[in-house]
Amino acid sequence: MLSDLLDHNKRWAAGRVAEDPDYFKRLAGLQQPDYLWIGCSDSRVPANVITGLEPGEVFVHRNVANLVHRGDINLLSVLEFAVEALEIKHIIVCGHYGCGGIRAAMEDHRHGIIDHWLQPIRDVADDAKSELDTIRDDNARLNRLCELSIAAQVQGLSRTPIIQSARKRRIEVHIHGWVYGLNDGLLRDLNCDHADDKNGHHAHE
Ligand code: CO
Repeated sequence: MLSDLLDHNKRWAAGRVAEDPDYFKRLAGLQQPDYLWIGCSDSRVPANVITGLEPGEVFVHRNVANLVHRGDINLLSVLEFAVEALEIKHIIVCGHYGCGGIRAAMEDHRHGIIDHWLQPIRDVADDAKSELDTIRDDNARLNRLCELSIAAQVQGLSRTPIIQSARKRRIEVHIHGWVYGLNDGLLRDLNCDHADDKNGHHAHE
C-alpha cells in the first residue's frame, strides 16, 4: 500500500537521526558522490541497493536499456554536472542480462516510440551480426548483445564533447562497463573501460 511507503520513510529517517543526529544536516549541505551510474530503468536494478552505496554516494541517471543517445539533453546535463561540478572520476554504465529493452529492440513488430529509443541497440546488433548469428540460444544471444551494447555506450560516452573536453584539460574520467545478473544479483566488469591513459587518446607524457 502507498501509505506503507510513507510509514517506512518515517521509520527510516528516524533511524538515521538516532544513529547520527547530523546525518540529514550534513547531506543537505553537500553531495560529494564518487560515482556516476548510468543504468537501466528496470526496477530490479537499483544502483544504491546492489552496490551498497548510501544516499550521497552515487549520482544516478537511468533510462530504458541504459543508452547514451548523442542528443539526449537529460543524460548530457547529468553528465556535464557530474564531470564539471561534482568532479566525478568514475562513470559506470551498467546494463543487465534479461533486459526487456534489448529484447524489444530485436523483435520484429512495432512497439511505438520506444522503437526509436532502442535504435542504437539494433545498430550494435547489425555491426556484430556475424558473431551474434553463431549463438543459437535466444537468451544467450540477447545477453551477448546486451554486453556489446554496454561496450558501445561506454565508447559513445567517451566521444561526447563533455568527456573529450574534460580529457583535453587533463581531467581524469574513467568510464566502466558493467553488467548485472538478475538471476544471481552479481555485477560483472566487462573490462571495456575507457580512460584517457588506456586508449592513447590523450596519453600523459
Ligand atoms: Co533493462
